[in-house]
Amino acid sequence: MKLLVVGAAGQLGSTFVDGTAHEVVGLTRADVDVTDQASLFAAVDRARPDVLVNCTAYNNVDGAEDDVATALAVNSIAVRAMAAAAIRVGATFVHYSTDFVFDGEASAPYDEDSRARPVSVYGCSKLLGEWFARDAPRWYVLRVESLFGGRQARSSVDKIASALREGRQTPVFMDRVVTPSYVMDVRDATLALLARDVPSGLFHCVNSGAATWAEVGRHIADLLGARHDLLTLTSVKDVSLRARRPVYCALSNARLAQAVGHPLPTWQDAVSRYVSTLSGQA
Ligand SMILES: NC(=O)c1ccc[n+]([C@@H]2O[C@H](COP(=O)([O-])OP(=O)(O)OC[C@H]3O[C@@H](n4cnc5c(N)ncnc54)[C@H](OP(=O)(O)O)[C@@H]3O)[C@@H](O)[C@H]2O)c1
Repeated sequence: MKLLVVGAAGQLGSTFVDGTAHEVVGLTRADVDVTDQASLFAAVDRARPDVLVNCTAYNNVDGAEDDVATALAVNSIAVRAMAAAAIRVGATFVHYSTDFVFDGEASAPYDEDSRARPVSVYGCSKLLGEWFARDAPRWYVLRVESLFGGRQARSSVDKIASALREGRQTPVFMDRVVTPSYVMDVRDATLALLARDVPSGLFHCVNSGAATWAEVGRHIADLLGARHDLLTLTSVKDVSLRARRPVYCALSNARLAQAVGHPLPTWQDAVSRYVSTLSGQA
């Protein structure tokens, strides 16, 4: 199976390039700007992949409120072009979306049948991208959230872990509920869907379980032997951000677990595996 990964320098994209048994062609923004349809078509025609994996995104949630055109160009219109590129070469199209398509007013994990109701420009642009991705002959739209474990080490999990290791205070939301997800597990679940030839569909591709960021912080502190009082409990209500954030964002991965034939590891297991890779670093 030959994969063409666009957004190959990103957190998730780099995991495909760094470690799969498949033939992978990874393209960064320097290789192809996905908003340039002619360049995108040329790159896909040249590579002739079995699977086109879109790991690009305009992920600046606050910036998108003021730069709507860029958010739509990357997260929506470029996805339509990628689906068209997949049609040209008969490739399967894998596209990643987000928990931010939901309004965050739930009290139990969202499933794939839950009503999408984004509350930010970023969320709207990603939802539109989901719809365009379905133009491809065979497609998977995989909603991920709170990713960690990329080689860039810039996730919330990384920020909490490095503050705790250095003995610094770090803020953690006590009321935002999430399903933190390890990029390695997201990659492996993606490859399992492809290997099992699962019919096209929308899947929540996250680790299992749900937690507040305060609970995630306490888990990381326990793993590092750090003090819980270094975690400064914060409420979403106390923080003023340009874009509205959904408060309750946990996703149920039951549909994905059934499709790949096994439950995904819990977020605790995933965070533990990742934090163990940090030991020995300064
Ligand atoms: N990170 C999360 O917690 C999170 C949460 C929910 C959903 N997601 C989704 O998961 C997917 C992967 O996210 P990630 O965290 O791996 O993102 P990331 O680390 O920000 O990587 C995105 C990559 O896309 C590239 N890119 C942006 N615009 C481009 C363009 N016009 N042409 C070519 N490349 C372009 C970026 O290049 P530059 O570095 O040069 O800008 C970057 O390398 C995305 O669909 C994202 O929306 C992520």
